[in-house]
Amino acid sequence: MFRKRDGSLRAVSAACPHKGGPIADGQIDNKVVLCPLHLNAFELDTGCSTTGAAPLRTYRVDIDDGQIVVSVPRTDKAG
Ligand code: FES
Repeated sequence: MFRKRDGSLRAVSAACPHKGGPIADGQIDNKVVLCPLHLNAFELDTGCSTTGAAPLRTYRVDIDDGQIVVSVPRTDKAG
């Protein structure tokens, strides 16, 4: 989960689609996150790579009564 400069939140997959790098350890600017392993860049809004990698999965984030709610499609849930 990342917070953009405007205060909005973006939730993305924890594992990079390239080789499983730790996206949470990546650096962000206001548009992209850089995977720390091989520096592929992914748009925070869409997950699309700007460096030619497969897209990063993104998740809808809502604030409900002060709680952060991340919507995960049923196919992504364990079990
Ligand atoms: S594992 Fe993320 S760019 Fe290679």
